[in-house]
Amino acid sequence: MTFDELNNLAAKAKASELRDLAAAHTPAPMKAAGWTADVSRQFVSAEVEAALLEYAQQENLTGAIEDLFSAAIVNPSEDRPALHWALRLPPESDLTATEHATTVNALHKATALAADTTVSAIVHIGIGGSDFGPRLYADAFADRLLSHVELRFCANVDPLDLELALAGLDPGKTLIIGISKSFGTEETLYNLERAKTWLESALGPAEAANHLLLVTANPDRATKWLNGVPATTLDMPLSVGGRYSIWSAASVAVMASFGVETFRDFLDGAADMDRHVKTAPLKDNLAARLALLDFWNTSFMGFGSRAVLAYSRRLRMLPTYLQQLEMESNGKSVGPEGHDAPLPTAPLLWGGEGSVGQHSYHQWLHQGTHIVPTEFILAPGSRSDGDGVEALTAHALAQAEVLANGRSLSEINAEEPDLPAHIARQKIHPGGRPSTILHTEELTPARLGALIALYEHRTYLAGVLWQINSFDQWGVERGKTMATRLKPVLRGESKADDPATQRLVEQLK
Ligand code: F6P
Repeated sequence: MTFDELNNLAAKAKASELRDLAAAHTPAPMKAAGWTADVSRQFVSAEVEAALLEYAQQENLTGAIEDLFSAAIVNPSEDRPALHWALRLPPESDLTATEHATTVNALHKATALAADTTVSAIVHIGIGGSDFGPRLYADAFADRLLSHVELRFCANVDPLDLELALAGLDPGKTLIIGISKSFGTEETLYNLERAKTWLESALGPAEAANHLLLVTANPDRATKWLNGVPATTLDMPLSVGGRYSIWSAASVAVMASFGVETFRDFLDGAADMDRHVKTAPLKDNLAARLALLDFWNTSFMGFGSRAVLAYSRRLRMLPTYLQQLEMESNGKSVGPEGHDAPLPTAPLLWGGEGSVGQHSYHQWLHQGTHIVPTEFILAPGSRSDGDGVEALTAHALAQAEVLANGRSLSEINAEEPDLPAHIARQKIHPGGRPSTILHTEELTPARLGALIALYEHRTYLAGVLWQINSFDQWGVERGKTMATRLKPVLRGESKADDPATQRLVEQLK
């Protein structure tokens, strides 16, 4: 299966009516680890589905899955395996026991923290993969916080972020947890330094050490930073990428704040999805099929973005979380051998909470000039009020239907015959907007774990199809270096090399 053949199939698909395609090809919903995916409203005919699966075989997607789970070097530029999956499974071999032990250690530490009633607040300081995962987890299960703990987060280098996180807290009853895999991230070190000063000025250096817990894959740097302060440090493995580290000790704050058993359910849910991805044949493999759909929609149908619409209050942070996971993993144009990626790679991932988005960007989705595949995540929950659950579900299904089928001028004229022509035309919904529906009955910790694991594997397999390395992030370095160079410029000690930047510095003075 060549790119030309796929492009010819895409040309045919673009000339088709989505409504007709959806009627002609109704793939059975795919199920895994408690989730069901309906992909019937995509520009994928039976012929395209077969072609994509043929391409997947040709590119040995099954081998890529085996590589991941056998701890092969899937991150060649850093010469590392990617062992996030190992943190959620009992050690299957000595290969992963070391990494798995770091999560077990964190769970033990969290058990002790949860039992420590002298701690009434935990402040989690970290950014990116050292923040989004725990923050998503905390927001999803905010109604299940252990009663005596208040959990706050601080990520940004904007000083207000830490000030708000510490506002009103008693240093004597507060635990500061600093998460940084590299222990070299400016924002985190800045906030940790200020938080340590906050503790020391209230408690003195010796007692302050009992209110500080660091989690890192770089203990030497942490020890140097602590400069003799005997604070506790937990490990996180170098072989687990930051954006794949929610399963690691990076989550020790949420392990403690929501209870270790809940977190074990979360890990078990992910392990359930791992078993599916590891064993299911490609045509039934949810991660492989969704990766192929991303590959098809982005690289052949030419859709430049994908909107994740979380029709579940518990999942309102999921689009933010997935932005780092997918865009920091696959927002690349050069592959591991230094070759240009042969096709357009990862789309812009954006989205928000349903039904809230219907009062914001859904106008754009329905009648804008851009076609955007949408992904509805529906987890209505059965313990909530029936009317609200019914409304949420009805809105999700209605939005997907109208996005796909639109509303034609003839339908409008038939339903509203007295409308002036120029108004009737403005009411046309073009339709032809594809969507995937991912749904589960209730968003439990296990289902959240399964969902995140699904997206991790989908991201990795899409990277394989795009012939890029999903596990490094060279694109974040230059900006950091440049920011360091601009600080003396802002202090007036030197001029910026770039004239436009220098002009801006002068405006900001
Ligand atoms: O954005 C760059 C990045 O390195 C992310 O990959 C990472 O999750 C984040 O910064 C924080 O890094 P660290 O955990 O090393 O502080």
